[in-house]
Amino acid sequence: MKINPFKPNSPSRPGMFVGRINEIDRIESALIQTKANQNVNFLLRGERGIGKTSLLNLVKFFAEGQIEVRDHQLNFLVIETDISKDTTQFGLIRKIEYALRRRLEKSEPARNFFSEAWGFIKKIEGAGFKINENKQEDAELIFEEFSYSLADTLKRITNTDSSNIFNSKYDGILVLIDKSNNASKQLDLGTFLKLLLERIQKEGTEKLMFGLAGLPKIKEVLIESHPSSIRLFDDIQMDRLLKEEVENVIERVLESTSELNGFKTLIDDDAKRMLTYFAEGFPHFIHQYGFSAFELSDGKTITNDNVIKGAIGRNGALEIIGNKYYRDDYYKKIQGDEYREVLNIMSESLDNWVTKKEIKDKFKGTNNSLNNAIQALSSRGIIVSKEGSRGIYRLLDKGFAWWIRLKCSQEKNKATTNSK
Ligand SMILES: Nc1ncnc2c1ncn2[C@@H]1O[C@H](COP(=O)(O)OP(=O)(O)O)[C@@H](O)[C@H]1O
Ligand SMILES: [Mg+2]
Repeated sequence: MKINPFKPNSPSRPGMFVGRINEIDRIESALIQTKANQNVNFLLRGERGIGKTSLLNLVKFFAEGQIEVRDHQLNFLVIETDISKDTTQFGLIRKIEYALRRRLEKSEPARNFFSEAWGFIKKIEGAGFKINENKQEDAELIFEEFSYSLADTLKRITNTDSSNIFNSKYDGILVLIDKSNNASKQLDLGTFLKLLLERIQKEGTEKLMFGLAGLPKIKEVLIESHPSSIRLFDDIQMDRLLKEEVENVIERVLESTSELNGFKTLIDDDAKRMLTYFAEGFPHFIHQYGFSAFELSDGKTITNDNVIKGAIGRNGALEIIGNKYYRDDYYKKIQGDEYREVLNIMSESLDNWVTKKEIKDKFKGTNNSLNNAIQALSSRGIIVSKEGSRGIYRLLDKGFAWWIRLKCSQEKNKATTNSK
């Protein structure tokens, strides 16, 4: 059996990583600044599948020195974590403590240091219900203990004098937090990070750096928690890859087949063009369409037919992508069939701009219900309205349009089969 080299469901390894030159440049600067005791944090914002987790993985390689950064070999202590709806402040604190302990607790003096400086964690856990992190005073106390312990640890591991009992000198601590848009009100992430960084700075070090990744709405989540917390970050928006970068990803992935299968899988030129077209610059889509095409291929060469059938066939890539990205927008977020009718009409023009008049010509309902539908769809971000002009709209991307067309044709087929 041939091994499929496309991996739609796992983040990219550094060897497979393509592009993101600007993003990397800004993050490298942040690392170098922080190493020089001038903390800079970054925030990676982007849609699902745009490559946030992959980029965080790469940053870890830079920060830990496996990949050189502008002739520097960095040596940050990197802590990786992510946030769910249930993550509490104490939960986050424990994750950070655990990661530090695992990395640093390698000798007797280090163990002694941990049981003293970080002893409050055990105390809290031991105290059980007596200390309640939901109670304001207790939460503040936990925060105090945590920030001092972290500052103390940070100062020691970045020093070369005798206070460093850890056999290694670090440039600083980098905390990477993925899925940060999940932060609950209770976690209060913006305030937490702001107070923590201020406190650490007062303790005389700025070698603590945060790298957050999340969906675009992370910005609102942070602002709601603390209006000025957003200023803590270099705000990096991730957009689609360029066409050449998409081709590069395909090339890299296919190169890896030599090792996986003992020979290199090729791709016909028209197939590569088609795959690039389907991918629309979304890294996740390259892997999803590529995966389906490879499955249908003979393993030696991917043909145009493989790409097309893999995309629109039964359980094909488009179906999978649609279930992940579009289904909610089409079925859940909107109630009326009239809304869907508008989307169906718009999908005929793919993701090109359509005027309201063009929609109206095909729309069966009243003018009023058309207005309502357009209003609702654009306020929910399902369609985009053209900046600076009234009454011109488009769908978010071609994939959405293709998927809607696929749904419509499936429904039509169902209807004709049923009526037979
Ligand atoms: N720069 C890149 N180069 C190559 N492949 C990438 C790149 N960024 C993402 N990918 C691929 O795209 C898919 C989604 O990436 P991921 O990092 O999980 O996105 P996100 O975290 O934004 O949802 C994965 O299959 C990953 O391998
Ligand atoms: Mg991710």
